[in-house]
Amino acid sequence: MYQTKAYSAGSATTPLASTTITRRDPTDHDVQIEILFCGICHSDLHQVRNEWKEVMPTVYPCVPGHEIVGRVTRIGGAVTRFQPGDLAAVGCMVDSDRTCPACKAGLEQFCPNMTLTYNFPDKHLHGVTYGGYSDSIVVDENFVLHVPANLDLAGAAPLLCAGITTYSPMKHWCVTKGRKVGVVGLGGLGHMGVKFAHAFGAHVVVFTTSPKKKDDALRLGADEVVVSRNADEMKKHVGTFDFILDAVAADHDINAYIQLLGRDGNITLVGAPEKPLSVAAFGLIFNRRSLSGSPIGGIPETQEMLDFCGAHNITADVEVIPIQKVNEAYERLAKADVKYRFSIDMASLKSE
Ligand SMILES: NC(=O)c1ccc[n+]([C@@H]2O[C@H](COP(=O)([O-])OP(=O)(O)OC[C@H]3O[C@@H](n4cnc5c(N)ncnc54)[C@H](OP(=O)(O)O)[C@@H]3O)[C@@H](O)[C@H]2O)c1
Ligand SMILES: [Zn+2]
Ligand SMILES: [Zn+2]
Repeated sequence: MYQTKAYSAGSATTPLASTTITRRDPTDHDVQIEILFCGICHSDLHQVRNEWKEVMPTVYPCVPGHEIVGRVTRIGGAVTRFQPGDLAAVGCMVDSDRTCPACKAGLEQFCPNMTLTYNFPDKHLHGVTYGGYSDSIVVDENFVLHVPANLDLAGAAPLLCAGITTYSPMKHWCVTKGRKVGVVGLGGLGHMGVKFAHAFGAHVVVFTTSPKKKDDALRLGADEVVVSRNADEMKKHVGTFDFILDAVAADHDINAYIQLLGRDGNITLVGAPEKPLSVAAFGLIFNRRSLSGSPIGGIPETQEMLDFCGAHNITADVEVIPIQKVNEAYERLAKADVKYRFSIDMASLKSE
């Protein structure tokens, strides 16, 4: 075991602060990574503030962070896929049982024994797992991804959650050329959704509550932008969408979007607001519409997404911050004020 620097939250109401945590020494199949950048996901904020207490209560101290890129510093004796010096990335999962049908299908996100990167029982050290707001992390090589060399690392970090969480449902629901696709909420996930839907050739419409994001939405790849608080603008699109991705982090009226779907249209929730959403049955019944959800993505698909981003030079639009600004960043994230993902430069942790 060894000690490494980190930032943690001590409770739902205290700011994150500098601390030291224990990591395991790499076992035979482990890769040790020096973390260079870690994105700030709205899930970090939900988790730190214990907003998901019904489903995933937070264990304190909590070290968030599941959008990790870095460089390999040490490998275990049996590691074959990485060498010291390689770029490496870790997303929302660090382990699973590898034996269940989901794991065998490369869909580890559905494994009943999957281990999330933070706030999950740690099989090695007991206690809970600690995430990427830290100097280094040790992860089984099967949960470590390769980062295409051409990608900017600060902008690549958010691909590990915001990227895969939007890429995966769009693949599943066949977002391709000729489809009309909506993206609701232009935040970290939403802006990646726009980039992917555009890259897949769809006609992309962004729904935003922030009129000032309109120009950015068009620059990011949207064909149209609708300010969702404007009922007339919404009405024009009733019954026309094949697929809508809902990436909103707060309470909102999902029925307004269900109405916009055409026959057999689907709306997929990736946003995970604290409170339950209410759904009007007839919105779904008419037009045989469907509502579903989607969690992150499996390891093979995450690598596929990273390779796709490498081939198309896609990264997140980031505001790079030192770790000392993390609490300020959380305040801004809560107000939907980020362009469009914070990425923490972990070199800043060395001075703590
Ligand atoms: N399913 C998964 O596996 C998964 C993975 C990662 C994250 N998530 C969840 O996805 C959600 C989004 O995460 P994120 O990191 O993209 O968050 P984010 O950067 O804060 O973006 C959320 C966006 O939602 C919109 N929004 C915020 N408050 C709103 C309100 N009151 N009414 C309507 N729209 C509002 C804003 O867009 P506009 O300004 O454009 O309206 C905001 O930028 C979070 O709940 C997060 O926990 C789920
Ligand atoms: Zn996330
Ligand atoms: Zn499994």
